[in-house]
Amino acid sequence: MTKKIGILTSGGDCAGLNAVIRAVVHRASLLGWEVTGITDGTQGLIARPPAVRKLTLADVDANVMRMGGTILGSISKGNPFAFPQPDGSVKDLSDDIIEGIKILGLDAIIGIGGDGSLDILNTLTKRGGFPLVGIPKTVDNDLGETENSIGFDTAVSVATEALDRLQPTAASHDRVMVLEVMGRDAGHIALTAGIAGGADVILIPEIPYTIEGIVKKIRAVKSNDRNFALVVVSEAVKTPEGEKKQQEFVDGQKRYGGIGQLIGEEISRATGFETRVTVLGHVQRGCPPTYNDRLLASALGVHAVDLIAAGKFGRMVAWKNRQVVDVAIEDAIKAYQAVDTDSTLVKTARALGISFGD
Ligand code: F6P
Repeated sequence: MTKKIGILTSGGDCAGLNAVIRAVVHRASLLGWEVTGITDGTQGLIARPPAVRKLTLADVDANVMRMGGTILGSISKGNPFAFPQPDGSVKDLSDDIIEGIKILGLDAIIGIGGDGSLDILNTLTKRGGFPLVGIPKTVDNDLGETENSIGFDTAVSVATEALDRLQPTAASHDRVMVLEVMGRDAGHIALTAGIAGGADVILIPEIPYTIEGIVKKIRAVKSNDRNFALVVVSEAVKTPEGEKKQQEFVDGQKRYGGIGQLIGEEISRATGFETRVTVLGHVQRGCPPTYNDRLLASALGVHAVDLIAAGKFGRMVAWKNRQVVDVAIEDAIKAYQAVDTDSTLVKTARALGISFGD
């Protein structure tokens, strides 16, 4: 019997989403199954008729794998259990979503998301009694039970390249360059790119810093016959007063941003060194995936379909010890993965003389 599976991408986009959609369609078509792409995450299930498109091999050639973004679209704001309405009130849209899945007559759903999206999808599909398999994606790499999530490697690669590009201009002008990167409350991008890109100082939310600590390192670098310094700051690092820097957008939503500028000003004030700040932002998300993200997406996509074939649901595909495995979605969500301050990478950074400002 032909199985009909639905696939959606939810939460902030990242590189590798199209690669995983492609892998799912290829594997499913080898099994003779149909794949329905749901548009804009759960939004597509609220629309009537549900906003979907049939995905065939013709839709997912290798060029699609190379593309950043998601051909299905995504939604990254608003919890469907309390979805903001234009008049400022909130509405529970969960029944509409469940009804949308029913209308489509799907045998199973593959949800590609981070912890927030997978949590929402898990709750909704459980309530509606629909089989779900999750695939982890997030540039923040903060989902537990998997060593890597789709999108992280590409984001790190972009941040590393940014440091490579900042270095020569820093050296040409005797400057301190501060690079603010994404990561939400986890410092994985800053830590990994900071080591790979030769940073002198890496600031992550998991390790408290002082301005004196940062300044000490920069003075040491500058007095050591080097005329420039590179500093990477993760967006959720707190201010010296202990607050997270957030900016309120016109839609009332708050997002991280601004800590790099503040740290840059403090460095400049304390040292007198000319300092410039770069905020990398969404450049870390919307680009062709690295080969690592393409491989991860391919392996996870194939395994997700195989789990459906085996009748294993409520599982998230994951990457551990060089292979693909699967874990309970709940366990992955519960096991939030911030930077372990005793990890090899933190120890390596310290052993290289990189300062965490502590
Ligand atoms: O969670 C992924 C992420 O890119 C974070 O690193 C960042 O803080 C946030 O999303 C940005 O969200 P938005 O796309 O809504 O600006």
